[in-house]
Amino acid sequence: MAPSLVKSLLLAAVGATFVNAQIEVDLSSAASVKTAMATIAYNCLSYYKGNLSGNTPGILPGPPPNGDYYWWEGGALWGTMVDYWHYTGDTSYNPSTQYSLIFQAGAPANSYEPANWTASLGNDDQGFWGMSAMLAAETNFENPPSSDPQWLSLAQAVFNTQAARWDTQYCNGGLRWQIPLSNNGYDYKNSIANGIFFNLGARLARYTGNDSYAQWAEKAYNWTADVGYIDANYNIFDGAHVEHNCTDINKAQFSYVAATFIQGAGFMYNYTNGSALWEQRLTSLTNRSLEVFFPNGIAVELSCELPNNVQCLTDMLSYKGYLHRWLAQVTQVAPYIKNTILPVLKTSATAAMKNCNPDGTCGFRWTTPSYDGDTGAGQEMNALGALMSVLITLEPVSVAYTNMTGGTSVGNAAAGVGSAILPTNFRPITAGDRAGASIITILIISGLVSMLIWMSSGETEGFRLGFFGKGKGMM
Ligand SMILES: *[C@@H]1O[C@H](CO)[C@@H](O)[C@H](O)[C@H]1NC(C)=O
Ligand SMILES: *[C@@H]1O[C@H](CO)[C@@H](O)[C@H](O)[C@H]1NC(C)=O
Ligand SMILES: *[C@@H]1O[C@H](CO)[C@@H](O)[C@H](O)[C@H]1NC(C)=O
Ligand SMILES: *[C@@H]1O[C@H](CO)[C@@H](O)[C@H](O)[C@H]1NC(C)=O
Ligand SMILES: *[C@@H]1O[C@H](CO)[C@@H](O)[C@H](O)[C@H]1NC(C)=O
Ligand SMILES: *[C@@H]1O[C@H](CO)[C@@H](O)[C@H](O)[C@H]1NC(C)=O
Ligand SMILES: *[C@@H]1O[C@H](CO)[C@@H](O)[C@H](O)[C@H]1NC(C)=O
Ligand SMILES: *[C@@H]1O[C@H](CO)[C@@H](O)[C@H](O)[C@H]1NC(C)=O
Ligand SMILES: *[C@@H]1O[C@H](CO)[C@@H](O)[C@H](O)[C@H]1NC(C)=O
Repeated sequence: MAPSLVKSLLLAAVGATFVNAQIEVDLSSAASVKTAMATIAYNCLSYYKGNLSGNTPGILPGPPPNGDYYWWEGGALWGTMVDYWHYTGDTSYNPSTQYSLIFQAGAPANSYEPANWTASLGNDDQGFWGMSAMLAAETNFENPPSSDPQWLSLAQAVFNTQAARWDTQYCNGGLRWQIPLSNNGYDYKNSIANGIFFNLGARLARYTGNDSYAQWAEKAYNWTADVGYIDANYNIFDGAHVEHNCTDINKAQFSYVAATFIQGAGFMYNYTNGSALWEQRLTSLTNRSLEVFFPNGIAVELSCELPNNVQCLTDMLSYKGYLHRWLAQVTQVAPYIKNTILPVLKTSATAAMKNCNPDGTCGFRWTTPSYDGDTGAGQEMNALGALMSVLITLEPVSVAYTNMTGGTSVGNAAAGVGSAILPTNFRPITAGDRAGASIITILIISGLVSMLIWMSSGETEGFRLGFFGKGKGMM
């Protein structure tokens, strides 16, 4: 990652020469916020080339070295665009969104384990696409033709394949990070993989009313806490290795992990009609995350957005967007926490907008007083998320539907059953896989370079070890 460090220093130098023109937006006017969102959404989608002839639909340019973005971030992009439509009513990107979410589903199993990407597939990568499908169900995003898989069934398929991978052999349970046995990271059980499984379980329980999902969700949350990834102060750490019985905990904290657990806890709170257990967990997680990730009321990706330089990998440059969106949405299913969350998101969004140019190009470090010169698809998604979290305070936004309250997506409780990629049925290596494997090797090497940079930047021992233990970008 040395080149990206050089790049960010270069960008910082260039950024200093920009005139201080920022996007025009009045955060007290819904119309103005939507206009700014349209500008930023257009800019965001300019990164998407999957609809140009010869390119693969649904994905952002990549994966490295063919472009900056891993497969999962396409899933994250379409989730952002589902929410963009949901908040603004602007249908401009709905056709691309629907097509992409179906194209990458991985027919015939339709569990977001498409053959092209299995060689580098993590439960979290698959899970991001699953959460976007779940959001499409919850928002009544236009249903695909009945010949295609439906939003709810896609989310159920992801959930069912992950439940089949729940691993009791080590650490008393939990999901591993990577899915194929041969991947670097197969021996790592992390909070994001388990957090997404928890999140999907909570949302499927609320949507369908089927308590099995809630039981799984509670089990996944309890495991994450029991193993110490969620500590007594509600910090959420990155993960640990099975060969150490998950005790060598890498203490890096990432904002999207916290957001994933907070949103799941909000849905469990709502599903349980406001139980004391989930209220306590939701309050505590929120309280701690606001302290950790919003120092001075502005979102900071603290593990890589360091005081003197930004060392975030491309993946990490998009986390603030999920943080804003999911915290905003929790205030709808757990209204009691609205006044704790929304004012903070607003100060953060105000700072974010100072980092956007009039053409909708947005930077990353929101604590700088103007555009910092560090942009990309993730930064654009972050800015959109920030504006959504303001728009929710300005006009009514529909609350996640359920099967009982008008949700129209058709489910299939058995979706994905029997199709999970397990160590015992991983298909033989193909030429495509070899390309994937070499990419992983390249990343291990670049991971080593990063480790040296981290060491010289005085990061914690646990973080460095954990970082090195991973083969690819998704933390
Ligand atoms: C591809 O998508 C982008 C972003 O949605 C859009 O601006 C462009 O017109 C599309 N191109 C084609 C060929 O559909
Ligand atoms: C898989 O890769 C092939 C070859 O690049 C491409 O044509 C196809 O569209 C890809 N499918 C998915 C689901 O990514
Ligand atoms: C409830 O969900 C579980 C999956 O966790 C599934 O096996 C079961 O069939 C579902 N029940 C109904 C009534 O849909
Ligand atoms: C999960 O943890 C809570 C709090 O410790 C406990 O009350 C609950 O019984 C646990 N649930 C399961 C399924 O173990
Ligand atoms: C591994 O850790 C779990 C708790 O996470 C504990 O219940 C179990 O006893 C530990 N196993 C060994 C072999 O230390
Ligand atoms: C929540 O309340 C509704 C209506 O009183 C009830 O039908 C439902 O069973 C309750 N849910 C739980 C998980 O207790
Ligand atoms: C959050 O935690 C702090 C202590 O860390 C406490 O003083 C404060 O009251 C808590 N706020 C809420 C809303 O729970
Ligand atoms: C659950 O969410 C609904 C909105 O869908 C809200 O009206 C209700 O108050 C929430 N339940 C609790 C216990 O906050
Ligand atoms: C809600 O779920 C029930 C039971 O699975 C199903 O029969 C019904 O069609 C669903 N309603 C909608 C609107 O999908």
